[in-house]
Amino acid sequence: MNDFEKILGYEAIKQELIQISDVLANSEAYQKLGVESPHGLLLYGSPGVGKTLMSYAVIAASGRKSFMCRKDKPNGDFVKAIKETFAAAKAAAPSIVFLDDMEKFANGDERHPHAEEYVTVQSCIDDCKGQEVFVLATANKLQSLPRSLLRAGRFDRMIKVHNPRGEDAVKIIDHYIKKKKCMADMDATVIARMMDGRSCAALETVINEAGLYAGFERSNVITMDHFMKACLHTVYDIPSAVLNGPVPKTDLTNGNDQRVRIVYHEAGHATVAEVLNPGSVALVTAYNDAGHSGGFTSYCCDHERSTTQDMFRQICASLGGMAALDQQYGMADAGVGQDLDHAFSLVSGLVGDACIRGFGFYVSECGDSQSRKSRREQAVAVEMERWYRKTKEILSANRDLFEAIAAELSQKGVLTTADIDRIKQRCRITPVAI
Ligand SMILES: Nc1ncnc2c1ncn2[C@@H]1O[C@H](COP(=O)(O)OP(=O)(O)OP(=O)(O)O)[C@@H](O)[C@H]1O
Ligand SMILES: [Mg+2]
Repeated sequence: MNDFEKILGYEAIKQELIQISDVLANSEAYQKLGVESPHGLLLYGSPGVGKTLMSYAVIAASGRKSFMCRKDKPNGDFVKAIKETFAAAKAAAPSIVFLDDMEKFANGDERHPHAEEYVTVQSCIDDCKGQEVFVLATANKLQSLPRSLLRAGRFDRMIKVHNPRGEDAVKIIDHYIKKKKCMADMDATVIARMMDGRSCAALETVINEAGLYAGFERSNVITMDHFMKACLHTVYDIPSAVLNGPVPKTDLTNGNDQRVRIVYHEAGHATVAEVLNPGSVALVTAYNDAGHSGGFTSYCCDHERSTTQDMFRQICASLGGMAALDQQYGMADAGVGQDLDHAFSLVSGLVGDACIRGFGFYVSECGDSQSRKSRREQAVAVEMERWYRKTKEILSANRDLFEAIAAELSQKGVLTTADIDRIKQRCRITPVAI
């Protein structure tokens, strides 16, 4: 297996990396065409998405000698180490300098554009011009690196590595499942939905964690139940009482019971999310741990590139919990701070950046007048009211689904995507246009 085959999914990125490796391995062929080889490549993205794995694949396929530089020394010594790494790479050219986790070169996660480490990296890169020293680097956030370091000519290629989604996530999960002794009921698609937006490292860890639960029970195989426990505990940080203890009997007619209110609140989120975006709900919980009740609903949404329609759906799903209690008991819900913050920030973006209510509310980089700010705040409030009414309309039109989710949630404490699919088969769903 070559090193690129170890990278699961990410086909487009892999093709780009294979092409860059080819330039590094066969630079003469490109030079004959009068083409200059690229000087550097930066892979960036969240922790655990495979940036280091991809870098190793490029190094191996290039056939070049590589010199790694990672922050493992105090500042002064580290600056010296950077210079020595570049000097060794220059002496061994054609070669690669591999700067792993570059945002850690200067202390902390803050931006340190003038840190000695970056100034040194920059001058070393410039010093290698024309010497067939390729600079390969990884970083989590571009914002923490100095802009001058990122300009063309230093890192000609910058590739963002996203968390795996959809088919890529299923492929990666399938691979980890096959490496372990798992029951056939381990469904990679369901797992991918529950782990939506998580890194490859998180996928690997949670499946291993499921194995630890199985081992502790002296089970011969890892089952979906073990995965559920691992996922709820390690990914969603749900207290162990929910996983092991019996779910208390709940009288859903008693609106004064805090757990009942949580059940309806979460059923509200889940119903609205599922009606607007079928198949999006990954997990719903309502639990009671040592007298502390809590709950949450996890639904998939594209955090990276949302259309305005996606954002409308997210706003309604966020308001679903509050609207549910309002509708069910005519009571205000005390635990909606975070939901409202989320909805307000989305609506503010739509009004102030996307100008859905007209250009007069645009948040200008040159600064806003006080009157423009207060008109914008009013426009945001009007939009919030509109989406709140729409959310209540969705709940009213889908009362069966809402009640069925609440009833099952109160009995089980946790509902997965498979439970929601089953409930949906016996409830009529009425689409509502937004
Ligand atoms: N696409 C992938 N296919 C298979 N395994 C992967 C993939 N991406 C990551 N992994 C695995 O996930 C783990 C983390 O990967 P890696 O260290 O390359 O991530 P990273 O992006 O460099 O993280 P960090 O920013 O924390 O340094 C490793 O065990 C790696 O093998
Ligand atoms: Mg790494």
